[in-house]
Amino acid sequence: MVQIIMTRFRLEGSDRTETFLCTVPMFHVYGLVTFATGLLGCGATIIVLSKYELPEMLRSINEYGVTYLPLVPPILVAMLAHPKPLPLGNLRKLVSGGAPLSKELIEGFKEKYPQVEILQGYGLTESTAIGASTDSAEESRRYGTAGLLSPNTEAKIVDPETGEALPVNRTGELWIRGPYVMKGYFKNTEATQSTLTPDGWLKTGDLCYIDEDGYLFVVDRLKELIKYKGYQVPPAELEALLLTHPEIQDVAVIPFPDREVGQFPMAYVVRKKGSNLSEREVMEFVVKQVAPYKKVRKVAFVTEIPKNASEFTVVIHEQRAILYAAPVL
Ligand SMILES: *[C@@H]1O[C@H](CO)[C@@H](O)[C@H](O)[C@H]1NC(C)=O
Ligand SMILES: *[C@@H]1O[C@H](CO)[C@@H](O)[C@H](O)[C@H]1NC(C)=O
Ligand SMILES: *[C@@H]1O[C@H](CO)[C@@H](O)[C@H](O)[C@H]1NC(C)=O
Repeated sequence: MVQIIMTRFRLEGSDRTETFLCTVPMFHVYGLVTFATGLLGCGATIIVLSKYELPEMLRSINEYGVTYLPLVPPILVAMLAHPKPLPLGNLRKLVSGGAPLSKELIEGFKEKYPQVEILQGYGLTESTAIGASTDSAEESRRYGTAGLLSPNTEAKIVDPETGEALPVNRTGELWIRGPYVMKGYFKNTEATQSTLTPDGWLKTGDLCYIDEDGYLFVVDRLKELIKYKGYQVPPAELEALLLTHPEIQDVAVIPFPDREVGQFPMAYVVRKKGSNLSEREVMEFVVKQVAPYKKVRKVAFVTEIPKNASEFTVVIHEQRAILYAAPVL
């Protein structure tokens, strides 16, 4: 596992000069694997925030000469939403995990902070946070990708209805297999049997496709899809689109129950300071850019999208996993 983390953070060889800042909770698999075991095992320097807060994060980056920042998309969104570029000292790289970053977010961030390279990682609690990652700036420029498969990983894309394996470019459920996949859920045989196949494939519950060159793209969580008259609407796609609106600071799209159509997309929107964006303007912005069944049909304005430690678990199953008892170092 340490080997895989070292590849992800490009720490092979003698270059162990990076200083990392921990913004993610260590009870979550992201922090547990990246910080509590992986980077520590590599001998990297780690600064730990007791709790994520933007001002405290900036102070630590500057005071301790942080060069490498693993984070989740909401932090990146907050850094981008700031009217002026924030002082980032020696920060040169950040890696984002938990949910996909859109092309607009990556490009917007690169424009505002050209000195910082963005990498991405993909994984689940059930796979020890391992699965895929972009390990170079060049790989990250393939927008929206979670990267190439991690070492020791097999993957296939499966039609969730028929169980049939799908070819390149086709979207279906991602199944992965590797030595880091969990043995099962604690005292829950039923959940284990529906998640692990007898020959060791982990059904990730993520809707993905893999392109011709082997890059993985995560479309959304299978279970979180909004079902509008049987059509599937990925909330992440609408959230990414809405974040491109110049007057929207943050957004969350949810399924709104409806007797006639089943569910329709509803958006909770945080307006930027001074904006007087209306419900209708939000809906019209979306309508012009999506298929009719994906339309946002209800909007509510809020002052913030709640994001506490538990809500960082964006792409992770709720069940607790028993991980392999392999030695970490
Ligand atoms: C996959 O999609 C890419 C981008 O749209 C396209 O260039 C490529 O030809 C496709 N390959 C196959 C095998 O469908
Ligand atoms: C904001 O918009 C609402 C309705 O769209 C309008 O009633 C109100 O006067 C506007 N306020 C400002 C400050 O423009
Ligand atoms: C996270 O926020 C939700 C909603 O605001 C709240 O119900 C929950 O108790 C919070 N959890 C923690 C660990 O703070």
